Amino acid sequence: MTSLFKSIPVRSSEITPKDTYLSRRDFMKAATVATGAALLAACAPTAADDLQNAKPVPTSDATDELGNVVNTYDDITNYNNYYEFTTDKSGVARLAKNFTTSPWTVEVSGLVNNPKTFGIEDLLKDFQQEERIYRLRCVEAWSMVIPWTGFSLASLLKIVEPTSDAKYVRFETVLRPEEMPGQGNRSYPWPYQEGLRLDEAMNELGFLATGLYGEPNVPQNGAPIRLVVPWKYGFKSIKSIVKIELVAEEPSTLWSAIQSNEYGFYANVNPNVDHPRWSQGSERRIGELSRRETLMFNGYDEQVAYLYDGMDLGQNF
Ligand code: MTE
Repeated sequence: MTSLFKSIPVRSSEITPKDTYLSRRDFMKAATVATGAALLAACAPTAADDLQNAKPVPTSDATDELGNVVNTYDDITNYNNYYEFTTDKSGVARLAKNFTTSPWTVEVSGLVNNPKTFGIEDLLKDFQQEERIYRLRCVEAWSMVIPWTGFSLASLLKIVEPTSDAKYVRFETVLRPEEMPGQGNRSYPWPYQEGLRLDEAMNELGFLATGLYGEPNVPQNGAPIRLVVPWKYGFKSIKSIVKIELVAEEPSTLWSAIQSNEYGFYANVNPNVDHPRWSQGSERRIGELSRRETLMFNGYDEQVAYLYDGMDLGQNF
């Protein structure tokens, strides 16, 4: 176990326990909310009640291995890309609020010796859940630092035993237009699909997230289970997965099907290869004013650069 996890930037034991997420500063903020509520009470009792009952928004002083402080729970759960609901980042949380995440199954099939359909409760019980703090860099040039809970993708793939013909892994999001209004938009080839090369998928950084900030995941962030591939642009980190298929050929992905010259299969974070319409050299960290330089492989080069030895990353973007 130790050797497997040696390369992982932040292990669960290094993350602030859930109970201490609320720092003194945050309790001060909460106190301010209560004062505001008292003032409001005179003219708007309903709003004031809401405020007085509101729990303080969790924040944390935990950092990733580079010293970046995690984003607030509020940032992470209210600024989202989830086109199945809406293309408006601040509108996803509201539209996804009642999305049904239970019961839920994930079928793992294709070129494997042991195909299996897992109930979400089995995935939570049978795979040791750990926390990892990862940077998320969106292709749109904004970024966050997120404390996820979940388990490694490699540990799931090992259970189903990919055959020697399996070269890629294909992921699929649930297709449920009755609950996901964005799936009514015919400009996109639903369901959302993504893919990784098998050796990329077996890298220990690949993560299936079931929780966030020590709590179960919420719909806007891909509940009940979503992929997190921290060295690639955020669109590879597919949400609300129902199917994982081992295949021989490079799978089609939603974004490359729409715009292959802008969103390639590899999508490794790379400050030297610009998007055709904007620079990828820097990024806006949500919650910060000035821009930061974007790091090669989003700062995970030590763990993943070997996967691309001899490859032209300008061609395979
Ligand atoms: N997965 C699905 N099914 N649908 C989406 O629209 N958006 C992707 C990715 N996964 C998306 C998705 C993009 S572009 C990003 S940047 C991340 O989710 C955002 O994850 P977050 O909202 O949890 O920060």
